Amino acid sequence: MSRLRIVPLDDAVVFPGMPVTLPIDVGGDAHVLLIPRQQGAYAKVGVVAEVDGRLRMPGQGSAVSLTALHRAVPGVAATDADGVLRVEAEERPDQTPPPTLTGELERDYRAVVEEILGLRGDDGRISAFVRSITQPGALADTAGYSPDLNTAQKIQLLETLDVVQRLSLALKFQQERLTELVVRKRIRDDVESGAQKQQRDYVLRKQMDAIRKELGEDNGAASDDYREKIENAGMPEAVRQQAERELARLERVGDSNAESATIRTYLDWLLAVPWSKRSEERLDPVHAREVLDADHEGLDDVKKRITEYLAVRKLRSERGMADTRRSGVILTLVGPPGTGKTSIGESIAKATGRQFVRMSLGGVRDEAEIRGHRRTYIGALPGRLVRALRDAGTMNPVIMLDEVDKLGADWRGDPSAALLEVLDPAQNHAFRDHYLDVELDLSHVLFVATANVADSIPGPLLDRMEVIAFDGYTTDEKVAIARGHLWPRQIERNGLRSDEVSVSDDVLRLIVTDYTREAGVRQLERELGTMLRKTATQIASGGQSLPIVIDAGAVRQALGRAKVFHEAAVRTAVPGVATGLAVTGTGGDVLFVEAASMPGSGGLVLTGQLGDVMKESARIALTYVKSHAAELGVDPNALDGREVHVHVPAGAIPKDGPSAGVTMVTAIASLLTGRPVKSTIGMTGEVTLQGRVLPIGGLKQKVLAAHAAGLTEVIVPERNAPDLDDVPGDVREHMTFHVVSSVAEVLTLALEATPLAKAA
Ligand SMILES: Nc1ncnc2c1ncn2[C@@H]1O[C@H](COP(=O)(O)OP(=O)(O)OP(=O)(O)O)[C@@H](O)[C@H]1O
Ligand SMILES: [Mg+2]
Repeated sequence: MSRLRIVPLDDAVVFPGMPVTLPIDVGGDAHVLLIPRQQGAYAKVGVVAEVDGRLRMPGQGSAVSLTALHRAVPGVAATDADGVLRVEAEERPDQTPPPTLTGELERDYRAVVEEILGLRGDDGRISAFVRSITQPGALADTAGYSPDLNTAQKIQLLETLDVVQRLSLALKFQQERLTELVVRKRIRDDVESGAQKQQRDYVLRKQMDAIRKELGEDNGAASDDYREKIENAGMPEAVRQQAERELARLERVGDSNAESATIRTYLDWLLAVPWSKRSEERLDPVHAREVLDADHEGLDDVKKRITEYLAVRKLRSERGMADTRRSGVILTLVGPPGTGKTSIGESIAKATGRQFVRMSLGGVRDEAEIRGHRRTYIGALPGRLVRALRDAGTMNPVIMLDEVDKLGADWRGDPSAALLEVLDPAQNHAFRDHYLDVELDLSHVLFVATANVADSIPGPLLDRMEVIAFDGYTTDEKVAIARGHLWPRQIERNGLRSDEVSVSDDVLRLIVTDYTREAGVRQLERELGTMLRKTATQIASGGQSLPIVIDAGAVRQALGRAKVFHEAAVRTAVPGVATGLAVTGTGGDVLFVEAASMPGSGGLVLTGQLGDVMKESARIALTYVKSHAAELGVDPNALDGREVHVHVPAGAIPKDGPSAGVTMVTAIASLLTGRPVKSTIGMTGEVTLQGRVLPIGGLKQKVLAAHAAGLTEVIVPERNAPDLDDVPGDVREHMTFHVVSSVAEVLTLALEATPLAKAA
């Protein structure tokens, strides 16, 4: 038992064998008692420590270095004469229990500690230190060094005087530590391996990018590229947002995803629309007229209508009037092929400084053609309008809707409904293509439509159109077009110079009348081309004196025999044939109606691909003739036991319409009276049962066709008389017009006075 100065240790525990340095003053004492103190309470056991030396601390304090020796249990404390608190200490150095009691614990303890040190990444020094300790009590006390035991646990170890108990307690603590460490390590490993995977992926991805870049399929750069394009496209805000959403999606799905191709296609289309590009528009009617005149011969009416149209647009735009539903009518050019509709459309674009795109609607039956397919369809594409804008490269081109009369409609939807929306100024500023699914402003587009006949344009569309008729050209006009446009163009196309070959107007006229039969000038241009190809061959083979003059003989040599015959005289030589005038998709034409009678049951046989309306006309005609037999001088019994056959060649071409009525009556009357029809007369008009003649359409085209076919007289329904003003003067000069209101007048005019003696 010894009296030792008490040194309290707050929140620290010193075990026997440990050296410590404490900033305290111990006077002259050689030994002190170190007792841990936690929250003001002293531990039940302390250690006796020997003072090894006294040190001066930097500053004024002093410190002592101590070595703990063994445990001691403190007893009664009292303040000594020198004023220091000292305690009676019962010193308790460790007993050494028999190895049978401690052996196994020791081995376990060492194994656990080794393992802990292994996990902690010890460099071998600590485990060497632990191995050097042979006493079981001291071995248990090494747990005091462990950073993972808390003060309470260490105090518990200190207070356990019995070596066996202490060792098993230390083993228990260390095992807990080990488990904890293993779990912690596993978590760390898991985390680490996750992190490593990420890192690995990152590296691989980088490599892939590099490879792609080498191959020129660089996705990163591509999406940057898109970003830049989207930024520069000048899209409206809503469209830009849509583009960016898609771009984000592209980046998200990555390049290898099948969807990325569709997204790219979509973005490409979105970027293909020239959102912010516009041509500087020129709305100067005077300039426009100059351009139209330079490109096209004649067509005075048409040009006037177009310049007026531009003048109105100019005024409206200068006066800041918004386009309303009725203000933006669509110019529609209606007429036979080759009359310059498409080419005048191009001239409109040229005159107004806009781009020109042609959009052929012939045979379009599917609304999606116009409006695009929704993106959910595989292989979906935008509609024709978007493609037209892309081709134009501007938002205000002239878009020519070619062949609107050939639009179809079926179960796939009605394309004309989509067109209606496009052409409606009240709606077309927000046209929505199904594929792009964003709003497109089409209100600056100048739409021009073309058609061969107005009849087959869907009604609601026609209602919004301002129809400009192209009725075809007279011979004189064709000669002028050939001279001014076709001839120079063909000379150039065939590699010739204008001073090498010449042709007179008379020869051009010969080509027009004998080699072409058309309302327009396409065939004429082809014939001129053939002509000049032959000439080019001659010049190229040499030995020709220049210039080569093309005369009638040269024409015959190059183009062969005349291709067009004036058949009226031949065909109408026998009773029962009358010459009618008709309008077809290719312009005006003459058509012969033939009637014959034969033994039969008294009916009517019709051939020649006649439509319902035309069949009815034939029936009306027969009834009329029968009911007026007496006036016409027809034997009332002439048709007993006979039937009438009416045929309209050419049999392969479908024909319909009421305007052949007068021609049928005339043919049947001619047949039954035996009076032939005058060979110089052509006729047109609808008939009623009462024998009235009703007006018909397309008079100008019919008259032009009659003129071209060599007829000199035309029978015209009275109510069509005003239309004769449209007939060009040079044609009117050569023709006689008979204005009629009844069938009786027609027959008087058309039938020869005397019947031909019956051949049979
Ligand atoms: N009045 C004209 N002046 C000069 N050239 C003309 C005239 N009319 C037609 N042409 C020429 O005739 C050719 C045929 O005309 P275009 O192709 O415009 O016919 P279209 O009316 O559009 O026929 P389609 O109905 O078959 O499409 C063009 O090369 C055009 O330049
Ligand atoms: Mg055309």
